[in-house]
Amino acid sequence: MYGPVRNGAAEPRQSITRTKVTVPELRARKLRASEKSRSKGDAISMVTAYDFTMARLLDEGGADILLVGDSLGMVVQGHKTTLPVTVEEICYHGRAVVRGATRAHVVGDMPFMSFQVSPASALENAGKLMKDGCFESVKLEGGVDVAEHVHRIVAAGIPVMGHVGLLPQSVHAMGGFKVQGKKETDAERVLRDARALEEAGAYAIVLEAIPPDLAAEITASLTVPTIGIGAGPGCDGQVLVCYDLLGMYRELSPKFAKRFAELGNAIVDATKEYVREVNAGTFPGPEHSFKPNGFTVRADAEELIGPSSDSHVH
Ligand code: KIV
Repeated sequence: MYGPVRNGAAEPRQSITRTKVTVPELRARKLRASEKSRSKGDAISMVTAYDFTMARLLDEGGADILLVGDSLGMVVQGHKTTLPVTVEEICYHGRAVVRGATRAHVVGDMPFMSFQVSPASALENAGKLMKDGCFESVKLEGGVDVAEHVHRIVAAGIPVMGHVGLLPQSVHAMGGFKVQGKKETDAERVLRDARALEEAGAYAIVLEAIPPDLAAEITASLTVPTIGIGAGPGCDGQVLVCYDLLGMYRELSPKFAKRFAELGNAIVDATKEYVREVNAGTFPGPEHSFKPNGFTVRADAEELIGPSSDSHVH
């Protein structure tokens, strides 16, 4: 903690001894979904996370998978695209998120140019994510073109999540963040990509920004779970960027990004109130201050004073 904890203030509201979500368990959800029991709570809920505190809250909320997405380039670093993100940055955020995830499975996104160059460099960088980022699996964008890369990584014992449809790392080739698979030939390409990933050994596949009927068709034709974002309700699970879900990222608001809270507004309002109280001198009050010493320290004795035992530790 960054300071003394008041009566259980840091305690999670739920027990933290829940069973860890694993890759075999996630794969098995597909089977149960195809047995039509998805409404009983088998759908996979995935959300991005980039730091310990958020990971801990999302984990407590019951998210099955936390993804340290390269979306952090946009929502954390403020870039216009995900392209500048590095393997080291994904690992840095991964180590923090893993500490906060007691139940959720934690996936690390392979950033732009960390896997495209060759199957060998893809394997090397996937290994870095597992060793330095402490991830439990990796995700990468692309289909047929990266199937061999996926195969090599999976053969080394690293589970891979695929990602087809809109590929944010190919934003310039795609002419922007645009819905994919609208024309028949494009739809066939997305389906081929998903099948190639399944054959290469991916354990789940993200379907991003494609028409819902195409997503449902792909979902029905695969034996591994699909996780949709802007792909309609016919997937085996859903994923959202946490700052979208919480109403905090204001630069872009894609149609599919439902805001389940308006924390952006809450943060602005809380900050305004803090600024007002600081200016009014009403914060900090006695309840936010430590006990007075009850004596006056001689001004000329300053250099003799060490840190006080109840000082705030950052
Ligand atoms: O980087 C990311 O956050 C993602 C999700 C949107 C799937 O890839």
